[in-house]
Amino acid sequence: MTLGFPDGFRWGTATAAYQIEGSTTADGRGPSIWDTFTVRSGLATGDPACDHYRRYREDVRLLSELGVPYYRFSVAWSRVMPDGRTVEPRGLAFYDRLVDTLLEHGITPMVTLYHWDLPEALQAEGGWPNRELADNFADYALTVHKALGDRVRQWTTINEPFCAAFIGYGNGDHAPGIQDEGAALVAGHNLLLAHGKAAQALRSDGGEQEVSIVLNFAPVLTDVDDAAHREAARKFDFLHNRFFLDPLLGRGYPPELLADLAHLGTLEPAIADGDLEIIAQPLDVLGVNYYAPARAMPLEDPEADSNCPLPGLRGMDVQPPRGELTSLGWEQRPECFTELLLWLQGHCDGLPLVIAENGAAFEDEVVEGRVHDKKRVQYFADHLAAVHAAIERGADVRGYMAWSLLDNFEWAMGYTQRFGLVHVDFETQERVLKDSALFYADVVARNGL
Ligand code: FCB
Repeated sequence: MTLGFPDGFRWGTATAAYQIEGSTTADGRGPSIWDTFTVRSGLATGDPACDHYRRYREDVRLLSELGVPYYRFSVAWSRVMPDGRTVEPRGLAFYDRLVDTLLEHGITPMVTLYHWDLPEALQAEGGWPNRELADNFADYALTVHKALGDRVRQWTTINEPFCAAFIGYGNGDHAPGIQDEGAALVAGHNLLLAHGKAAQALRSDGGEQEVSIVLNFAPVLTDVDDAAHREAARKFDFLHNRFFLDPLLGRGYPPELLADLAHLGTLEPAIADGDLEIIAQPLDVLGVNYYAPARAMPLEDPEADSNCPLPGLRGMDVQPPRGELTSLGWEQRPECFTELLLWLQGHCDGLPLVIAENGAAFEDEVVEGRVHDKKRVQYFADHLAAVHAAIERGADVRGYMAWSLLDNFEWAMGYTQRFGLVHVDFETQERVLKDSALFYADVVARNGL
């Protein structure tokens, strides 16, 4: 039986600049926080990653061979503006060539303006806890739109502000590696403000475009259905999911959430008059990233140590994932994906949704020039069926971008986690289509599963 997707469903793959480009000093590119953070922490860096900056033509040819018609990529701010402000035409020219090459191959480009690689020069001015960065970001957005807006219709301002703010400035596992819960919340607010100002800037430049933001959602599960567990789940859900979503929808921060965070004393003073109106720019679509659910539980002693990675939450903890895990240790729960999409459909009053990322890391092996990545094929089959089920039950999902086109630099995990449909040998840069790429190409060709 074929599970057919709606006509015009947008099938794509996704990547991000720092994860694939390499060439981190080419053509005047300035350092980003990921260059400095990885070196300072003794981690693998984004050089050479997939050497995509030099091999982009080959990669676009791969996309065209696969027959996947949409491609979501991000622009590196520090290539276009090495100091965060001054335009470097050679950096901009790269994306100009990339867009032209995609279009020559019949592939529709979808641009993400910020996928975590802040110019280091702006971090030196305080980074995202500094609200002035919202204006810098809007200037950058306008610059990129002036260069590519004649050919690119789909614009995403920011990818996963949750990670940029809470992992970058809260637990410090990501760049810039700062551990300051109060600053992390302010960074989250300023990222939303930056989104709003960039959305205004993009629309001020004319042209027909779709403006979106991409959020990562974690549906929250509990073992026990009692008041204490429900409250732990509520806290996690409100900070992980609704901190970002509700202000975008024009509803401000939920009062319960403000109360949960009040003890840090940083968020409310950071919300200036007019900010919430700027953040609530109308969205044409919402980008949804889904990987795994979270598991929450209450803590009797609110001061006890907690593994909860979210800034400012007290009296709750997270439990380890269980069941089938990916190599990153993420729990596989496709049914949560269906529930999430249906919940979003209702909560966002019918705003169209596009899956901007979904995928899984597993250990892959090249055997005689093939990669039989059965687990990844199964992951995609299960999760696409979950999206299909949500559509059948009324969710307005317009597209699906598989994460990722290529094995790439997986942030703090370096090159240890392979998410690609295409295997990359990081020594030789040889690309090999995995079985999952062939599977996905077939789904795309049939518009069905
Ligand atoms: C998401 C990121 C993406 C990738 C996947 C695995 O949080 O947006 O860059 O690392 O996770």
